[in-house]
Amino acid sequence: MFLRNLILALARNKAIERFVRTSRITRGVVRRFIAGDTLEEALTVAEDLAEKGFKVSLDLLGEHVASEAEADSALEEYLRLVSAIAASPYFGGWMPERINISIKLSQLGAHLDEKRCADRLEKLLAAASLHPIFIRIDMEESAMTDLTLRLVIEAHNKHKNVGTVLQSMLLRTPSDIEELIRQRIRVRMVKGAYLEPESVAFQKKRDVDQAYLACACKLIRDGVFPAIATHDASIIEKVEHFVQLEGISPGRFEYQLLYGIRRGLQEQLKKRGRIVRVYVPYGSSWYPYFTRRLAERPANLLFFIRSLFSR
Ligand code: 2OP
Repeated sequence: MFLRNLILALARNKAIERFVRTSRITRGVVRRFIAGDTLEEALTVAEDLAEKGFKVSLDLLGEHVASEAEADSALEEYLRLVSAIAASPYFGGWMPERINISIKLSQLGAHLDEKRCADRLEKLLAAASLHPIFIRIDMEESAMTDLTLRLVIEAHNKHKNVGTVLQSMLLRTPSDIEELIRQRIRVRMVKGAYLEPESVAFQKKRDVDQAYLACACKLIRDGVFPAIATHDASIIEKVEHFVQLEGISPGRFEYQLLYGIRRGLQEQLKKRGRIVRVYVPYGSSWYPYFTRRLAERPANLLFFIRSLFSR
């Protein structure tokens, strides 16, 4: 966790950000994790994955927009994405949907004006519910947790095509799980990719992992079609052991992994007959997403460092 926290802290440095964002060298590495700049490129990647039997979640990158106008244009882009998915030959399914959408509320301006963000979310959910397309509200740093859960629960009272994400590193998560299970809201379980203080989050990997397994098992037993989102093969084996022991059908939950990360594991799980969803990000605002990937797995960081020196 030390290296992880160091990278997350360094990533906030403006000079480092400028270098990573503008260097031609990073472009190639970024391509491994980001499906493309445009919706059209991302949809092609999504359809290829769907053809191979994967499920997909498309995410237009962007977070903490600087103005209401930017939040409005993010909404417009997401409405375009809804139409594009609905028109795709790979559209369809429910729990699991073949292609769904992930979005962050700070991209819809939640941190600027909660009410205006709620209105944008309502427009997106209303448009998506006509098909229906499922919308996953990503979780962000802990300062956003209360706000995100409040807006998701409110939206879910009206639209059933919305779910969210919880992070096992946060100390509050077991009680949030109880609440979302009560509300019958779908949860994606992740470890958490943000820099968080000791007052709100576990700082030791062992604690985060232990909490992850407990949360994942609880959701699989009592939640609504949860997503087990991890690249940690040893946790996945423990989850497999748990479902076998409890006699739970693997069709009651899905695994989620990120585009370009542990592709072998993605294949293996699919071959085993598990539902596997690949989270496919696209767009030009890739910097924060990319640095979280470097921080969370030494293998990603090594890949990045090697490409810097291999030219
Ligand atoms: C992130 O943006 C995958 O939503 C996650 O880091």
